[in-house]
Amino acid sequence: MRDFSGKTAVITGGASGIGHAVATRLGSEGMNLVIADIEQPALDAAVAEFEANGVSVLGQRTDVADNDSVRALAAAADDRFGDVHILFNNAGVAGGGPILEPDDIGVWDWVLGVDLMGVIYGIKAFGPQMVAHGEPCAIVNTASMAGLLPTPSLGSYTVAKYGVVAVSEVLSLETRDTTNLRVSVLCPGFVRTRIADSDRNIPEHLASLTEPSEELEFRREAARDLVASGMPPSEVAQQVLEAIVDERFYILPHPQYGEEIVARAQHIAAGGGVSAWGI
Ligand code: NAI
Repeated sequence: MRDFSGKTAVITGGASGIGHAVATRLGSEGMNLVIADIEQPALDAAVAEFEANGVSVLGQRTDVADNDSVRALAAAADDRFGDVHILFNNAGVAGGGPILEPDDIGVWDWVLGVDLMGVIYGIKAFGPQMVAHGEPCAIVNTASMAGLLPTPSLGSYTVAKYGVVAVSEVLSLETRDTTNLRVSVLCPGFVRTRIADSDRNIPEHLASLTEPSEELEFRREAARDLVASGMPPSEVAQQVLEAIVDERFYILPHPQYGEEIVARAQHIAAGGGVSAWGI
């Protein structure tokens, strides 16, 4: 896809971090924006910012873990702008702890619901219409380096992100040779965003699972430090744009992890032991 001006992009999780940066980049290319996010104040602020910059924008409060909410997003995008040309399935949360931790199944539901089912709902709500309109278009799904390498203490996140890589790979194989749709999967290492504070969006009924404890605060601080040392989101956004133009499937903004991906593949092929993401 090369022509962006006047076309429409839908960005989930577009009020913060990587989603906000990609929206900014696509808005600067003259695209109409549909910003979908669960956090109303951040959504309002993002919409006001894009409007002030002269971008045509619709803000739609959306819970990507809720299929009806995602379908309502697709209807709202269609009402306002008509055909969609880019879908960035990006909203995500990180949470949970070691897999053997008891009584945290609600966190698994939350993380898998947002990070994996959110992507699947998005593909199903938008994909058929994107193919039907016949113009060049792209779906980019945000996974993570944790979708390519196992990440201890982030079991639910790793499972969800492996799933995002898998659904993206299959969708690409099913569409690339026969349709106008191109698919990419974004697998960053650390990026300077608010992901370490994902708990701000945990559903009310699970809030007790994130009540302050020494252990939880320790994990959260460690995650904040890693994220703070990460890449600026604007650099990721530039790579996403280039991948859409070049029709590249895998978007790996952190090439330093390439050797670990190769090592994992070699371990699998050799039937050996498991190797982790050596953060
Ligand atoms: P962020 O926390 O700054 O942004 C995430 C956005 O998703 C927020 O605006 C949040 O309100 C929204 N969101 C959360 N739950 C939602 C829901 N149920 N429905 C709709 N919106 C919801 O974090 P960041 O880093 O920008 O996250 C974007 C994506 O990047 C996520 O999928 C994350 O897993 C992924 N990622 C982030 C990395 C990092 O180091 N920051 C590394 C690898 C992947």
